[in-house]
Amino acid sequence: MRRRTQRSLTNIVLFGTVLFLIIYLNRPQSKNTPFAWTTIRYKTTSTTLPQPRGICPGLADSSKPALVVARVAADGDSEWLDSLAHLYHLCVYTADAPVDTYATHLQVPANRGHEAMAYLTFLIDNYADIPAAGAVFVHGARWAWHNDEIDYDNAVLLAALNVSAALAPLGYHNLRCDWSASMCSPSSAPAQGSLETSVNAMLEPWDARAVSDAALPAAFAALFGGDGSATGMNSVADGSASSRGAGRVLLGRTDAVRAQCCAQFVVARDRVWQRSREEYVALRQWLLDGSSDSGNIKHSQSGNVAPRDDRVAGRILSYLWHILFIKQDGVYSGVDLEQLNILACPRADECYCRLYGRCDLQGCRTPGHCYGQYLLPPDFRLPPDWAATHS
Ligand SMILES: *[C@@H]1O[C@H](CO)[C@@H](O)[C@H](O)[C@H]1NC(C)=O
Repeated sequence: MRRRTQRSLTNIVLFGTVLFLIIYLNRPQSKNTPFAWTTIRYKTTSTTLPQPRGICPGLADSSKPALVVARVAADGDSEWLDSLAHLYHLCVYTADAPVDTYATHLQVPANRGHEAMAYLTFLIDNYADIPAAGAVFVHGARWAWHNDEIDYDNAVLLAALNVSAALAPLGYHNLRCDWSASMCSPSSAPAQGSLETSVNAMLEPWDARAVSDAALPAAFAALFGGDGSATGMNSVADGSASSRGAGRVLLGRTDAVRAQCCAQFVVARDRVWQRSREEYVALRQWLLDGSSDSGNIKHSQSGNVAPRDDRVAGRILSYLWHILFIKQDGVYSGVDLEQLNILACPRADECYCRLYGRCDLQGCRTPGHCYGQYLLPPDFRLPPDWAATHS
């Protein structure tokens, strides 16, 4: 009898301790402290930087917006882009094309970070020549599960896209309006820095979404902190604080970065220029330094560089673009995450109208979905014969 009492007492104490720990570790942290996510401060130790071989020919003279296409051979024929050439100045990067050491145009230094390498190389090598009409950044496949169109056809979307209207409010807009598969609704996924995310990433290391969410806080800290502060908290106390400005770089356990998914977006020229060219170089180096074939063993083992797995590194960057580009009031004193989250996820009905001229839609009963506009395909995949049957 006494034994049993003792055991239940132990159990109660154990349970209480665990419960306390969970509550304690998940306690809200200073919500209102702005994030010092104002400048990319990552510093490479690489002594050589890639040559400027990503120039997009004729861009300087273009009055059209640039269409920056990040493609790989597996994306199939790029002919579908021809029908868009009267609307956009095409800049097509094929990341896995055979290396042409003499070419100076439309080359990327490595096939790394999915679309990010082409996007960043475009920004770096054409920084001074970004068209006044802006730039649209897309993937190379015409049909993709995440294209916000009833047939998932990016040719239809890009033909309908009203670039100037899309840029009018914030100078940046994701091309997706529907919130499914995104981190827009608070129920979509736990906060990136939460215990739940860390546990999910540990239990399912093959789940790129969980793993990249778990890796995001340290990656952002490395990118915006730039001094190895990935493991340090609110590190305003060190010497670099004055150059960094007020605020913290590391996401807290309850801070969620909300954003539309899938890294296709449109940006205004002055939003590109709100970042220095060196920042885009630093961001690309973070990716390159973290790749397994960089030959820089010491570097790629450091926690400061991009995760080696492209599904993880690429997905982390897909949650960074809007932070780089959205025009935020008072951005120089730091990023107000709650405000940024609201800006990152406009209502679907407003988005369809502004971007694609699909106005007065019926059946928009939730902020993130309008009936009949877009449906997430099963398993995030289109049937293999989709292109053949829809051409
Ligand atoms: C784009 O939107 C603007 C309003 O924001 C409008 O004046 C213009 O006519 C639209 N362009 C097209 C081609 O629909």
